[in-house]
Amino acid sequence: MGLLQSISAALPLPAQENQWLVLVPSFVITTLLVTIGVLYFNYNPSIPSNAPRPFSKYSLPIIGALKFFTHREDFLFEGKKSSPNGNFSFIVGKYHVVGLSGPDGRKKFFESKELAFAEGYAALFNGGPPPKKGSDPNYDPTESAFSKHFSSRLLHMLKRDILSNGTKLLCGDTKARLLELANANVKITDPFESVYRIVFQLTMRTVGCNELAEDDVQREKVLQLYQVIEDSTTPATVIFPWFPGPAMIRRTIAGGRLYSIIQNIMDDRKKTGRRENDPLQHMMDMGDDTMAILTVVIGGLFAGLLNSGVNAAWLLVYLAANPEWQDKIRQELYDTCAKHVEDKTAPLIDQLCALDMDVWESSFPTLDMCLKDSIRIQTLGTAFRRNITGRDVKIGDEVIPNGAVVTLSFNDFHFDPEMYPDPEKWDPSRYERGEDKKQPYGWTGWGAGRHPCLGMKFAKLEMNVIIAMFLACFEYELSDKNGGPGTVPPVNRNAHSATRPQQRPYLKYKVREGAFA
Ligand code: HEM
Ligand SMILES: *[C@@H]1O[C@H](CO)[C@@H](O)[C@H](O)[C@H]1NC(C)=O
Ligand SMILES: *[C@@H]1O[C@H](CO)[C@@H](O)[C@H](O)[C@H]1NC(C)=O
Ligand SMILES: *[C@@H]1O[C@H](CO)[C@@H](O)[C@H](O)[C@H]1NC(C)=O
Repeated sequence: MGLLQSISAALPLPAQENQWLVLVPSFVITTLLVTIGVLYFNYNPSIPSNAPRPFSKYSLPIIGALKFFTHREDFLFEGKKSSPNGNFSFIVGKYHVVGLSGPDGRKKFFESKELAFAEGYAALFNGGPPPKKGSDPNYDPTESAFSKHFSSRLLHMLKRDILSNGTKLLCGDTKARLLELANANVKITDPFESVYRIVFQLTMRTVGCNELAEDDVQREKVLQLYQVIEDSTTPATVIFPWFPGPAMIRRTIAGGRLYSIIQNIMDDRKKTGRRENDPLQHMMDMGDDTMAILTVVIGGLFAGLLNSGVNAAWLLVYLAANPEWQDKIRQELYDTCAKHVEDKTAPLIDQLCALDMDVWESSFPTLDMCLKDSIRIQTLGTAFRRNITGRDVKIGDEVIPNGAVVTLSFNDFHFDPEMYPDPEKWDPSRYERGEDKKQPYGWTGWGAGRHPCLGMKFAKLEMNVIIAMFLACFEYELSDKNGGPGTVPPVNRNAHSATRPQQRPYLKYKVREGAFA
């Protein structure tokens, strides 16, 4: 007995209605086949003849270059090698993608006024519905309304005098978390959890609100929701951005919960007339609605955590494996405090907490170089742009056609052995030798050209605070989960952005004498 008959037999239906049980599924199956057929012939765009040469080795119908998702770096490297000038075209879902490489490719990528930032990331990184095109004749194709609002709010939060004012709070938050580590019974920690959470707290202070920066339970809840959103980009959401699949649904639910958390805090402030000196208050005073505020906070957390959270942890791991660099940094800490702090009897961590922002910025050149080589190794995946000029493709020289998304793999130059010998090795002294200066745009860890990182000053400050205070409090080494010997884990070069390693390293630490008084 077939499946359908067995179902119909089990149902108490009159005989003449049984036909629906056959008709409905066959209707569904026919619709599905027709849809697949239509998608098969129409979903993927065609590549114009004057676009960079197609690299179609791994191309599947509808999906396009699956390897772009599964082994991104390997795919882009092969694509580059397949083309005499290093630029190449491929298909991902409904997008034509152009891979650029080499010094000329970097220059065009970072400097072209025709390549939009937010639209590139929206297409292939976030995997949400694409932003709407502007119909206004003065519409600037390289800046969507959303990115204008977002950057103007973020620029305010990240202004120098505001950061400078907030430095003491960042130090206080960091000290509280380090004190918890110092009081832990088992002194072994996974920095990709514990140090990542310090970065989350400092970022919340700087782009969010004081309530969430100060309430450990609420902040953990927000972190979990944030991570649901971060994990909700899948190949399916990029290829079928209009389809409300499970990842999209999870993202929407998490977004809704975050919305009500922020809304409650805003309501409480309005009801009680309480004011805070924080980014949320600024946005409320500017008259932004909850949705606009939430978008800026989540966008800020995203931009702020993606690289910093992971780099802070990696940097401590690299330092664990290279104690000579730890010693150099500690020497810088002592020298700086000797020069700038009055109370020389206070514990080192408290002396550090007394430093002003400009001292944090200018007094730790060794720490800066250490961070720089960590960023070089950890800026994985690709940056994105999109040509949204709206103009027709002209016949002639090779172009990135209107609508095409552009990728630039940072590995292409951050791992170029001609610039960086033994590129997998973490070695801050590269910058003493000027290895990054051998080619234009040879190191772009903070972006470059028209879209440099807006959070660099804040990121450098928080990295310096966290690493300096950690080194001031603890002696430590790499270990495994149980305190046995540990190693620096391998980096997944095919990752789509800075990521936690699959095999987590642990840090086994001891509180330094007199660290906390
Ligand atoms: C170690 C930490 C960080 C690193 C390595 C880093 C790196 C970068 C890079 C490479 C870009 C350019 C991407 C591209 O060209 O496509 C960028 C852009 C950006 N970053 Fe950072 N970043 C860090 C921390 C932060 C923080 C803490 C914030 C804010 C709180 C932030 C906010 C932004 C924003 C808003 C942009 C976009 C700029 C634009 O729209 O033009 N970043 N960052
Ligand atoms: C810095 O902090 C002080 C004291 O909280 C405050 O009065 C002042 O307005 C702040 N300045 C800025 C730029 O936020
Ligand atoms: C963007 O597309 C238009 C139309 O095809 C083209 O004329 C222009 O050169 C492209 N921009 C870049 C940076 O390739
Ligand atoms: C491709 O690469 C060459 C040389 O690097 C460059 O001159 C050319 O403009 C590139 N094409 C595009 C579309 O950028």
